[in-house]
Amino acid sequence: MTVENRDVPQPVTVLGLGEMGAAVAGVFLASGHPTTVWNRTPEKAEALVAGGALRAATVRDAVTAGEVVFVSVKSAAAASRLLEEAGGALAGRTVVNLTDCTSGEAKETGRLAAESGADYLHGQIMTIAPALGAPESVVFFGGAESVYDRHRPLLDLLGGKGALVAADPGAPVLYGMAVHGTMWGILNGFLHAAALLKDEGIELKRFLDHAGPSLTALTSFLPSIADEVDRSQYAAQYGALRHHLPSIDDLLRESRARNVADHLPAHTLFLVTQAIADGHADDNYSRMIDYFAER
Ligand SMILES: NC(=O)c1ccc[n+]([C@@H]2O[C@H](COP(=O)([O-])OP(=O)(O)OC[C@H]3O[C@@H](n4cnc5c(N)ncnc54)[C@H](OP(=O)(O)O)[C@@H]3O)[C@@H](O)[C@H]2O)c1
Repeated sequence: MTVENRDVPQPVTVLGLGEMGAAVAGVFLASGHPTTVWNRTPEKAEALVAGGALRAATVRDAVTAGEVVFVSVKSAAAASRLLEEAGGALAGRTVVNLTDCTSGEAKETGRLAAESGADYLHGQIMTIAPALGAPESVVFFGGAESVYDRHRPLLDLLGGKGALVAADPGAPVLYGMAVHGTMWGILNGFLHAAALLKDEGIELKRFLDHAGPSLTALTSFLPSIADEVDRSQYAAQYGALRHHLPSIDDLLRESRARNVADHLPAHTLFLVTQAIADGHADDNYSRMIDYFAER
């Protein structure tokens, strides 16, 4: 199935019309692509059909109508079942699976698609549905470069900052998890801090008026930490682990004194104490990778 040198927009299929799948179909419809849709609960297709989408009665009919088949459902198991249901109808098409899962599940879904003769890309959407297609929206893709390049005009419609990150379909999933894991770390740290501030009656807005620049600067450390971790070089000129220890201990004691949950500082103190006991007192904080890398 070739898409090169075409004058007419490429027909696409979207399986799954939840919040995200409906947004995906909407982006393609708005760009003039013939868009066939299928959803387990058929009524959810009505708004898209009113906007020009074609409704398929079965998964196989839907797949047959599109050269590129986008899948956006709630779980990897559901996505796999849809591919199994489509079976041989997938041959010669490209599946772009936008369903969140683990990296192993993405590889497994890719294997299923390949068994049916389809090319496979995994897409990790990093935005909420209303921002899909916006110039600043990020989508990480994993799969063969030739497949990504062939469908680039279509894939770029999903987000202006879309990129192929690796040939491995599991890689974009890990990219997404890495962003989310960092996000939860920051949010939990901030909300723990907020609990301390609120306990003292300090408005967060007032805190941010003064502390905003210090917090914003935190992300500027990431490239140097990444470089140290990539090179396994942790030597610190300033701010070594031994200087972190008393501040972490203060935070823990302050939390306990105010009856604020102490899990986060207690866990940080545990890890840093262990690193110092292991002889890393003069290393940079990047050394703590060792204590996350091991179980
Ligand atoms: N919403 C977001 O902001 C967002 C952002 C990034 C990534 N994502 C990812 O996008 C994917 C879809 O999420 P969503 O927000 O659209 O979820 P949603 O609104 O809850 O919709 C779930 C979709 O999955 C379908 N589904 C569930 N189980 C199924 C099954 N066994 N067989 C067939 N279809 C099944 C549902 O069909 P019915 O309508 O019949 O129930 C519905 O179309 C998820 O992997 C999600 O993590 C979502």
